[in-house]
Amino acid sequence: MYEAFWRKMGDKCTVVIKGYEHLSYFSTNKNPCWFLEPKLEDSIRSLHGAVGNAETDGYTIVVGTGSSQLLQAVLYALAPQDQPDPINVVSAAPFYSSYPETTNIVRSGVYKWAGDAHGFDKDEPYIEFVTSPNNPNGVIRGPVVNRDGGFVVYDLAYYWPQYTPITSSLDFDIMLFTASNSIGVSKESQLRVAKILQVVADGCKRFGSSDGDNLFEYGRNVLAKRWEILRETDGMEECEKVFKGVKILVRSGRRFGSDPGYARVSMMGKDEEFNGLIERLSSVIQICNNDD
Ligand SMILES: Cc1ncc(COP(=O)(O)O)c(C=O)c1O
Repeated sequence: MYEAFWRKMGDKCTVVIKGYEHLSYFSTNKNPCWFLEPKLEDSIRSLHGAVGNAETDGYTIVVGTGSSQLLQAVLYALAPQDQPDPINVVSAAPFYSSYPETTNIVRSGVYKWAGDAHGFDKDEPYIEFVTSPNNPNGVIRGPVVNRDGGFVVYDLAYYWPQYTPITSSLDFDIMLFTASNSIGVSKESQLRVAKILQVVADGCKRFGSSDGDNLFEYGRNVLAKRWEILRETDGMEECEKVFKGVKILVRSGRRFGSDPGYARVSMMGKDEEFNGLIERLSSVIQICNNDD
């Protein structure tokens, strides 16, 4: 439905991403959602401000692959982990048809689908999805259970001006929105990976050539050099403790079912980071030699 609109927008939405950009797992360490691009966070806040459908000041923005993924995340986040029985998940009928499946698909031990909120009469904790406007009937709704020990999750997938008048800027504790039903669905991350994989595949076909286009050859050379340097720390006891002493975070062998004489060090950082690691490592080697 939005295709003609986006065609009209032409190049306004064109984005160029270089191969060397956005390579890290982390985009920000300022937000609990560490893979959230700060630019995306800014534009989400800006859009809600422009539309006036939700408050964002003082809120934490968490993104997922569509709001289906966020529905699962919110159930996991709200469900008490220390109770003998799973928390009940309800929504007033007619409810969005995916709620029962989304709730039960992972067969969680901490939450379970309990059906129509109108019929929920157990004296037990619950999570209620309030969909407003509602899918499938477009009705503006509020919570129906209204009891102590309940969490309310507002699914606002359709609280956008093309579907309903925006009468107030909502400020509930937990509000879910999705770009799929309001703006158009996008598969852009797949397109980028498709491009990158093809560049790698093309470089691969020239395996053994010295034109430097082969990612695997490049990676192997870098790792071989890094590994050579790290090998000097072989044979240390209580690796994790010694490394911690010079502020290098490693995972002790104990964490992967091995012995503490082993440690797992990340070798995937940038050159600058690895060089910093090596600098600190030389002091570890010195400490160990002095101990000997
Ligand atoms: C009420 C409601 N919530 C959530 C979703 C899920 O949206 P997404 O496509 O972002 O997973 C939909 C999709 O139809 C929906 O209607």
